[in-house]
Amino acid sequence: MTLQSLAPSQHLYEHVADRIRTLITEKTLQPGDRLPSVRKLHEQFSVSISTVLEAYRLLEDQGLIGARPQSGYFVKQSHLFTPDEPKQSALPKHNFPVEVSLAYRVGVTMRDPNKVKLGAAVPGLELLPIATLNRLMSQIIRTHSEAVHSYSIAKGCESLHHEVAKRLIDAGCSINPNEIVITNGTTEAVYLSLRAVTKPGDTVAIESPCYYGILEALESLHLKALELPTHPQEGISLDHLEAALEHRQIAACALVPNFSNPLGSCMSDVNKQHLVTLLNQYDIPLIEDDIYGDLHFEGTRPKAVKAFDTEGRVLYCASASKTLSPGLRVGWSVPGRYQLKIEQLKMAMNWMTSIASQLTVAAFLGNGGYDRHLRQLRRAYQSQIIRMTQAVCDYFPAETKVTRPSGGYVLWLELSNEFEAMALYEEALDHQISVAPGVMFSPSGNYANCLRLNCGLPWTPEIDRAMQTLGYLTKRQLARKMLNE
Ligand SMILES: Cc1ncc(COP(=O)(O)O)c(C=O)c1O
Repeated sequence: MTLQSLAPSQHLYEHVADRIRTLITEKTLQPGDRLPSVRKLHEQFSVSISTVLEAYRLLEDQGLIGARPQSGYFVKQSHLFTPDEPKQSALPKHNFPVEVSLAYRVGVTMRDPNKVKLGAAVPGLELLPIATLNRLMSQIIRTHSEAVHSYSIAKGCESLHHEVAKRLIDAGCSINPNEIVITNGTTEAVYLSLRAVTKPGDTVAIESPCYYGILEALESLHLKALELPTHPQEGISLDHLEAALEHRQIAACALVPNFSNPLGSCMSDVNKQHLVTLLNQYDIPLIEDDIYGDLHFEGTRPKAVKAFDTEGRVLYCASASKTLSPGLRVGWSVPGRYQLKIEQLKMAMNWMTSIASQLTVAAFLGNGGYDRHLRQLRRAYQSQIIRMTQAVCDYFPAETKVTRPSGGYVLWLELSNEFEAMALYEEALDHQISVAPGVMFSPSGNYANCLRLNCGLPWTPEIDRAMQTLGYLTKRQLARKMLNE
């Protein structure tokens, strides 16, 4: 074994861990197999003993391997480490008006601090650079003591426009800072975008299942949703989208092309280019929610669809909520040809975003620590996804299908058709656990047998117990159904 294909951004121990993980996921090393001794790997990889030990510790944290006293490290006994993935979703039989009171009710319980938060897609606060952000904010309040209390222009602070434009280079976008409008999170960017390109009664093409925040925006703007089949790896089916564009009146598309929520799918560059070609051909705007784009586990950051947009039809939306702080409410929109409209709507909505928040995010992005922070965050989210998948294998029914996202931090579970995720949701609340039932992600009421799990929180014995409980409740529900048949 050699370490030839090292990506420059990783620590050496992470490279070693990656190589061993590949051997395990590709089943070269099987559950129960003994791993090479620390000394042997040290010689084979020409790395220090402490590097190998650190790599093994990382894999232990990810639940892939365990140490046995006097015997070394072994691949953990998990007969199903790579469970089957759900298939591409089907076209709904009927389209219903978007009605998301359930999403609101579930959303409230998902954020209850007394519950184990496996429902809402929240990051673990301990993973966020809160101390640095607080220090930067204190400095900003001291040095801009009056400006932070004033009104500014709707599109936001120049320093943040510059930092966001620099970050967007990684997403393949050459954006002039002037083209950016700062918003209160991605939520507002998406809402304003929908408002800018549609009128009540219009139909918007969406992924199925779809992030319920987009559904909430559609409902409040009196828009109809056209749910289109979506593949857990490849994203929305472009064949179905093309057929819909040809045969129906579609006013816009609203998609999460990179690490969608809840499926975790990531469209290829070829598909992104094809999507833009379709948008141009049918003269349709795309609202692109790229909130998870920076959170890829391997390789380089996936490009945004915006990177392929030469005609200004893509309204790009993202924020610092999943990487720095959801509470600062700093997001951005690159609305292309709709910029003036978005600026006017932003002003009508709430005039501007908090200056203290904007300057804090700008300072963090500008001080050079963001890339290092992202590297740690991606590792943490990847570990948590692996750990959670492991727990699903250990505690849930064997036939449970689980997505394999290559970024972001949510998992989507599909159980047998008899399973009622809503009933599990109610029961789990009694055990102080919140989950997101699948029906929240579909206006046509699909996915009653599916569940989304948040993997944003670092693994703890409490989460382990919560997963055991969920697995137990799921199996009990299915067993009772079978007995009553
Ligand atoms: C796909 C997606 N878009 C937007 C949001 C909300 O973003 P923000 O907090 O920046 O408004 C979330 C949060 O879970 C999300 O998953």
